[in-house]
Order: sequence, then structure tokens, then C-alpha cells
Amino acid sequence: RPRILSGMQPTDDSLTLGNYIGALTQWVALQDSYDTLYMMADLHALTVNPEPAKLRERTRRTLAQYLAGGVDPDRSTLFVQSHVPEHTELAWILSCQTGFGEASRMTQFKDKSAKQGTDGTTVGLFTYPVLMAADIILYDAALVPVGEDQRQHLEITRDIAERLNSRFGEGTAVVPEPHIVKAVAKIYDLQEPTAKMSKSATGKGTIWLLDDPKVSAKRIKSAVTDAGSDIVFDRENKPGVSNLLTIYSALTGQTIEALEAEYAGKQYGNLKVDLADVVVDFLTPFQAKVDHYLSDPAELDQLLARGAAKARELASVTLSRVYDRVGLLPAV
Ligand code: TYM
Repeated sequence: RPRILSGMQPTDDSLTLGNYIGALTQWVALQDSYDTLYMMADLHALTVNPEPAKLRERTRRTLAQYLAGGVDPDRSTLFVQSHVPEHTELAWILSCQTGFGEASRMTQFKDKSAKQGTDGTTVGLFTYPVLMAADIILYDAALVPVGEDQRQHLEITRDIAERLNSRFGEGTAVVPEPHIVKAVAKIYDLQEPTAKMSKSATGKGTIWLLDDPKVSAKRIKSAVTDAGSDIVFDRENKPGVSNLLTIYSALTGQTIEALEAEYAGKQYGNLKVDLADVVVDFLTPFQAKVDHYLSDPAELDQLLARGAAKARELASVTLSRVYDRVGLLPAV
């Protein structure tokens, strides 16, 4: 079966509704037809310089949210990036195949480094996409389910993989395809519906999966809406309403058209009140499941040990192949 690899950074106590709708639900759906590997990208999270104890805690919490969201440890391999040393080993090889200019053009790097200044920006932030390319290439992943914001990182991964094949021979690396589901690939900030809902936004426009559902209901009800009064999907002219319809549709399975018909002649307020209920009905059992998983950290750690063992088996094969192709002398 074709292989899938994806991951999220355990940078916060909670994932966002954007992570859930844009990525996690796709991960779950793909488990049936692919060989799926999902990781906690803790090495990537080091780029935000977290407090050590918090990083550890958040790595487990992220796993609990994967499980609560429906990732099934019997069908998917779940592991922590740093438990598989091959990631950083391959990243070095790939960094020697990545142009400085090419890496400098990554928009996430440009945005983040512009905010942090040259001295505040680490080399790790710069090479972040190279480590991500290593995550993917290491498992010969054919498909990588992510949100729209990761598209450029997938493009550089493809370029690096193609470069390996042309320099060192076909079959050195599998060139991965992004799996980006257009309708849900970008969930927007509730207060600023032209910007991505993000973990780093400090305002009230983000829904955190582990926040008190009452807080989330309030955020939905005070979401920014648009001029006019019709409840129709129109990304251009009605970004606020369109975002609410997208979230509603993703959480209930109802189509956008069905929702438009249901809310014809009604007011924005009606939509928001109903969506607030939908969000609470989603978050409440989700959080109960997360609490359940977190109540047994030893069980989680065991699951991660199994996942890492399985991931390492696959990773070591690819790493040996690449080491050999680039001309490193095998250790006897
Ligand atoms: P991260 O942790 O920022 O986000 C995790 C996933 O959630 C998606 N996402 C969204 N989708 C829709 N709407 C939003 N508002 C939204 N916000 C986030 C992201 O696109 C992502 O799929 N670099 C990655 C982590 C990573 C990775 C990898 C991913 C490390 N190695 C290898 C794939 C393959 C990241 O920072 O994701």
C-alpha cells in the first residue's frame, strides 16, 4: 500500500480547529487505504524555543488529540520525531542538496524571521523545511496530507527528492505528492477571516480544541461577519460567513449547499448560534476522550515505543540507501 507521512508541531497545550479540520480529519480518512505514519514533530517545535517540561507535556497532549480525533494506533504508526534519529541524519544529507537561495525563499521563514530579526532568528528556523523534507523522504511517502500553508514546504521537498534522483540515480528518493483538500485546506481566523486560523494569533479568532467549550461558543458567536445579510458561500465578498459555513460543514458532514438552503432568509445571528452548538457538541466528547488518554501516560508511552520501533525499521532502510548512493563509506 502507498505510504503516507504527516505531522504536527507540539508547540502549544492544544491544537486548533484549523489543525483538526485541515489536517487531522484527512489523516483519519486516509487510514483505510494507505499505510499511514503520523508523528509529533518535536524537533521542529524546538524552533520556538519551548520550556523543556512543557515540550514534553505537549508532545503527549498532541498524541492524545490525534487519538481523540480518530487516528487508530492499530492502523497507523504513531511516533515522536526525535525517537527516530534517522530524521536528523537524513536532514544533513538533504541540507547539502538544498540551495541557500532556495531555502531563503520559503515564505514561512521570511515571515517568521522578519518578526524576529536576524539575531532572534535561528539557523534551525532556516533549515526547518529541510528537516521536514527528511521526515517525508525517509518513509518513501507517496502522499502528504497537510493544509494549504504547507504547500511550499511540499514543493521544496519534491525539488530536493528530484534532485537526489537526478544526481544519484532514479530510486534514491520517492517524490511525494501533497494531499491538500481544497474545501478545508485553510480555516480562517474568526476575527480576521482573510488570515489563517493559527496557533500564534493572540486574539479571539482561534478555536483551541482543549479550551473550555463555553469560551469557544462565545468566540463563534462573536465571529466577524460581512456586509449584507444573505448566508451564502462567497469567499471573495463574504469571507467571514464562508469560513463559518466551512466549519459547520466540516463538523456535521452537511454540504455547503444544504446549509445555504437551510439558512436562506435567516440571519447571521442564527447561523452563529447554531454553529456555536455544533462546536460545543464536537468539543465536549473530544475533550473527554483526550482526558481519558492522558489519564494513562504509561500506555501512551508504550504506544510511542511501538511506533518508534516500527518507524525506525522503515527509516533505516531509506537512510542506508541514501548513504550508499551519496558515497558514504559503510561502517563495517
Ligand atoms: P503545523 O503544526 O503548523 O500544523 C499541523 C497541520 O495543520 C494544518 N493547519 C491548517 N489547516 C487548515 N487551516 C488552518 N488554519 C490550519 N492551520 C494549520 C497544517 O497545514 C498542517 O498540516 N511543518 C508542519 C509539521 C511537519 C510536517 C512534517 C507536516 C513537520 N514535518 C512532515 C507534514 C510532513 C507544521 O508546522 O504543521
